[in-house]
Amino acid sequence: MEFEKNILCIGAGYVGGPTMAVIAAKCPQYRVLVVDVDKERIKAWNSDRLPIFEPGLQDLVKKTRDKNLFFSSEVQRGIQESEIIFVSVNTPTKTFGQGAGRAADLQYWEKTAREILSHSKTSKIVVEKSTLPVRTATAMERILNGNSRGISFEVVSNPEFLAEGTAIQDLENPDRVLIGAKETPGGIKARKEIVEIYANWVPRERIIESNVWSSELSKLTANAFLAQRISSINSISALCEKTEADINEVAYAIGMDSRIGPKFLKASVGFGGSCFKKDIMNLVYICESYGLEKVAQYWQAVVEINDWQEGRFIQNMLANMFNTVAEKRIALLGFAFKANTGDTRESPAIYIAQALIEERARIVVSDPEALENARKDLKRIEDKIIFEPDPYRAAEGAHAIAILTEWDLYKTLDYERVFDSMVQPAFIFDGRNILHHKRLFEIGFNVFAIGKAPLKHF
Ligand code: NAD
Ligand code: UGA
Repeated sequence: MEFEKNILCIGAGYVGGPTMAVIAAKCPQYRVLVVDVDKERIKAWNSDRLPIFEPGLQDLVKKTRDKNLFFSSEVQRGIQESEIIFVSVNTPTKTFGQGAGRAADLQYWEKTAREILSHSKTSKIVVEKSTLPVRTATAMERILNGNSRGISFEVVSNPEFLAEGTAIQDLENPDRVLIGAKETPGGIKARKEIVEIYANWVPRERIIESNVWSSELSKLTANAFLAQRISSINSISALCEKTEADINEVAYAIGMDSRIGPKFLKASVGFGGSCFKKDIMNLVYICESYGLEKVAQYWQAVVEINDWQEGRFIQNMLANMFNTVAEKRIALLGFAFKANTGDTRESPAIYIAQALIEERARIVVSDPEALENARKDLKRIEDKIIFEPDPYRAAEGAHAIAILTEWDLYKTLDYERVFDSMVQPAFIFDGRNILHHKRLFEIGFNVFAIGKAPLKHF
């Protein structure tokens, strides 16, 4: 069968895989190929055990794989066979040299651009799907168009706004799709080609066309604003704990103001995930490099409050468990950075587990999907930790439970059974405010939630 378009995606990760699966499902007339240098990952995409857990993904891949969706590690061949190349490689925070801890590490991106350049025999559209610093497209165009083979490249920015755990529904029904390009005839033509792909299922009024810099910067800004809401509500949660105000009631009351809105106001142990911190630090770095110190400080505070919130959670545990957790068994329920994913990147649970081990507690980590990743994250201290998928077994003999991920499963546990199996006095620290605190108190637990007065029996 002849396909209308040959689309390639370089990078088969949390973004590349789900995004391309949705494009393939919505556009049977296109051939979609996803390539990655990580052969194991590609093998997993071609198996029944996909490399990432995402509700709805398995079904979608089953329907499209080997029909118009393909996974391969042949990057070079993929580049030669396609006209449109989405690049969704990782852009982590730099860990070395200038800008370490803040700037984006663009080495994977640049390497990909050079590979595209060296294997291309025809002109192509290169789509920035990865999150990149504003003005990256210029650098990319310089690399790509510095050839003497008479082929040209248009760089289009099409940042991804999906959230893990809801990736498929976010992709199928996005609030908006953003496509930025240079305002030149070539840029505008390339942008139209990408609009055409999304117009197969996204209502036209939700597809925004902008200049390339606005598109790049909107992605960093969206993540900064989202994270800022969490830091804002978490900062107020600390004040609630001092004043007997209740953070859920405050969030509800302010969220009813249509200008504020109710979403993204859940107080928590802190935000995690591979992107919020990395993207804000990148924004901070960019602002500093343009001499905008005040703006940089403003956004940096969002990350500082998050670190502080994680630290506060540990301090609370220690202070309430008689200032020592040494030799006490503590069950951490949830390790993923949010529910419905197995992803643990930057999960607050990593910090909490490490801090408790430093305090010489005996840690049991439980999670329905993330134990494999948890093991990798805690490799250095793995021998000191028990990994237990069953939450009841994890809690047996424990002095305390800390809820670190808002999995539904933890809302409906038989907490009387859990209580009876624990050492008394038994403590629950609800880092996600998902439990019925009054009921737990009645069972006999000492209950500590985020942004609420503690419920203690002593
Ligand atoms: P990821 O680490 O899961 O996947 C990236 C993949 O790229 C890896 O499998 C890696 O092997 C591959 N890769 C790196 N260099 C390569 C090369 N030269 N050739 C071929 N493959 C290469 O990352 P991710 O979570 O999918 O994120 C990718 C980008 O999307 C990042 O810029 C991120 O900020 C952005 N983003 C992520 C999310 C999310 O929810 N995870 C959402 C929106 C945007
Ligand atoms: C986030 C954004 O929501 C996506 O739009 C964006 O595309 C993505 O980052 C990215 O660029 O990677 P994600 O990190 O997958 O998505 O998940 P979120 O739902 O945003 O949650 C992030 C963290 O904030 C989680 O740890 C979550 O538990 C926490 N959170 C979220 C709260 O503590 N309170 C809230 O009210 C909402």
